Amino acid sequence: MNIVLSGVKPTGIPTLGNYLGALKNFVKLQNEMTDYEFFIFIADLHAITIPQDPKELRANIRNLAALYLACGLNKERLTLFIQSEVSAHIEMGNVMQSLSYMGELERMTQFKDKMIKNPNGVTAALFTYPALMAADILLYDAKFVPVGDDQKQHLELTRDLANRFNNRFGDTFQVPEILLTKVGARIKDLQDPSKKMSKSDDSQSKGCIYLLDPLNVIKKKIKSAVTDSEAIVRYDVENKPGISNLMTIYSAITNLSFSEIEKKYEGKGYGDFKGDLAEIVAEEIGKVQEKYNQIINSKELDEILNQGRERATQIATRKIHKIYHKLGIGRF
Ligand code: AMP
Ligand code: TRP
Repeated sequence: MNIVLSGVKPTGIPTLGNYLGALKNFVKLQNEMTDYEFFIFIADLHAITIPQDPKELRANIRNLAALYLACGLNKERLTLFIQSEVSAHIEMGNVMQSLSYMGELERMTQFKDKMIKNPNGVTAALFTYPALMAADILLYDAKFVPVGDDQKQHLELTRDLANRFNNRFGDTFQVPEILLTKVGARIKDLQDPSKKMSKSDDSQSKGCIYLLDPLNVIKKKIKSAVTDSEAIVRYDVENKPGISNLMTIYSAITNLSFSEIEKKYEGKGYGDFKGDLAEIVAEEIGKVQEKYNQIINSKELDEILNQGRERATQIATRKIHKIYHKLGIGRF
């Protein structure tokens, strides 16, 4: 069976941006790609490339797993697991490091950006992060990898490494293809629509909706979102970034087009529009929270993660032994 695989870092509580840009998209892909198996893992080894508080990290890992399930992924066609529980990722990461050149890793824009911002804070693991990411993907011979465009360069490196290995040691890896998450669903900060809604924001932030915010807080954040003085519901990112962002959220949840939304609110002010949007978002997130609350402390969540660990370990261990054999190391 062909595999679609993606990883998510458990840093912070996911936002409405993550939900509309990533989580909801997985559910859509799973419904569309019916003859694919889905592998989703919590990339906790990637998270520790920058300092984390262990207590928070442990909670974030569990929250994220529960939120993925709460979004409506079909458990029957899903392998959900925690990266650090499948030790072949580290083993394969080491193989990929042996295959990567310093120059290649130095060219990664994510690394370069962090180096400019805080050169003393860049760990060796942050530098080799793309080799571990290639390992995550190649271990399972994933055919498609759905990610945002910020991960495009890492995916290209993964393809280079797969081809390099295949050329040197014979056909071993499926060369994966990127499945770019459709843009358009780039949700902006509600208080400052010039920047992306991001989970690294302060948790008190009024501009960022977290999936675990109480529903009344979510409604309040939407009602106090920054707009403009024209008071006409019209999509115009350049001149009306605030209302356009709110329309993007409206459209992503209801599937109404921008012109349909404009028509619906013709002659009405922002108050009506925001009031409706607040209800729509609260209803959607409310459903996710309801399922989340059922699952977060349940045995079922551990069972799903145990099954995921077993299935992933089985595939990944077989693969790493094959690779060690090809490399001539160990006695495999
Ligand atoms: P991050 O929170 O940056 O680790 O991103 C995790 C996933 O959520 C990636 O696939 C991003 O493309 C997506 N994502 C993050 N923030 C947003 C946003 N504001 N709007 C849409 N998608 C987002
Ligand atoms: N690097 C990805 C991110 O920052 C997360 C990730 C780690 C990943 N390993 C992966 C994504 C493998 C897809 C496939 O968002």
